[in-house]
Amino acid sequence: MAVALLTGCSSGFGLLSAVRLAEGGMTVVATVRDLDRDAGLRSALADAGVEAEVDQLDVTDAVSVDRSVEGVLSRHGRIDVLVNNAGVGLQGAVEATTIAQARALFDTNLFGMMRVTQVVLPVMRNQGAGVIVNISSLAALVTNPYSGVYSASKRALEAMCEALHYEVSPHGIRIAVIEPGSFPTAFGLRPCAVGEVAPIYAERMARWNEAYTRLPGRGEPADPARVADAVFEAATDSGFPLRRLVGDDAEMIAALRGSLDDAAFEEAVRGFLDFRD
Ligand SMILES: NC(=O)c1ccc[n+]([C@@H]2O[C@H](COP(=O)([O-])OP(=O)(O)OC[C@H]3O[C@@H](n4cnc5c(N)ncnc54)[C@H](OP(=O)(O)O)[C@@H]3O)[C@@H](O)[C@H]2O)c1
Repeated sequence: MAVALLTGCSSGFGLLSAVRLAEGGMTVVATVRDLDRDAGLRSALADAGVEAEVDQLDVTDAVSVDRSVEGVLSRHGRIDVLVNNAGVGLQGAVEATTIAQARALFDTNLFGMMRVTQVVLPVMRNQGAGVIVNISSLAALVTNPYSGVYSASKRALEAMCEALHYEVSPHGIRIAVIEPGSFPTAFGLRPCAVGEVAPIYAERMARWNEAYTRLPGRGEPADPARVADAVFEAATDSGFPLRRLVGDDAEMIAALRGSLDDAAFEEAVRGFLDFRD
C-alpha cells in the first residue's frame, strides 16, 4: 500500500484529501500543527469509515518536520506521496503589511513546503519513486490588489515546484501543483494588523471585496471535495500535468488572463467589478 504524508489536515483541503487518499486505499499519515485541533479530522475519517494516523507537524518547525518524517519511516519504511497543503492567507495592501507579517506568511506557504520537501526527497530518491503534490492557488497566476504578499508566496511556490520538477524527475519523482480558485473552507485572508497607513486603503479594499463577490462564476459555492479529488488524481495518475487549475472560477479567470495582455486584462477586471480609482 502506498504511504502518504499530508500537512495541514485540521480542516479544509488537507482534511478532505486525507480522507480521500485513505478511501483510495493508501496508508495515510495526516498531520496537524496542533494536536488539540484534530477533532474535525478524526470525525471526518470515522464518518467515511476509513483510518489514518494523525500526527503533529508544524511546517515552520524543522524539529517537528524531522520527527514526523522519521516516525513515518520507522513505522512504514517509505513515503510514496507527500501533500504540501498547509497554508495561511493574509489580506492587506503591500504598504500596510509589515515585513514580519510577510516573513511569517512566506515561512508557512513557501519555506514550509521547502522544509518538508527537503526532508522527504532523500527518502523518495532512495526509493527511486514518489509524488509531491503542492497546493498553490489561482492567486499564483492572477494577482488581486490587497493580496500581493499572499500571491507572491504562491507564485514563489510555483517557481520552486517548476524547478523541482526538472531536478527530481531523473530520480523517478513527480511534482504536481494544484491551483484552486475560491472554495468555502476555513481559509481566510485575515486582515493584516492595522498600521498607520492601513486606513488609507481600507475603503477601497472593502469596495474591492464587495465587488469581487459579484465576479462571474462566484455564485454557487464550489465544493472543496473537487480539490481532494484532484489531489488523489495527482497522487495516483502518472499522466497528471505539472499544473492543474481546480474550480470553475479558476478556469474562467485563468483563461481570460491567458488571452489578454496586461492592459486589456486590467480593463476587463475593472469593468467586470466596476472598480475604478
Ligand atoms: N480555500 C481557498 O479558497 C483556497 C484557494 C486557493 C488555495 N488555497 C490553499 O489551500 C491550502 C489549504 O487551505 P484551506 O482552504 O483548506 O484552508 P484551511 O481550512 O484554513 O486549512 C489550512 C490548513 O493549514 C494548516 N496550517 C497553517 N499553518 C500551518 C503550519 N505552520 N504547519 C502546519 N499546518 C499549518 C492549518 O492548521 P490550523 O488549523 O492549525 O490553523 C489548516 O489545517 C492552503 O495552502 C491555501 O493557501 C485555498
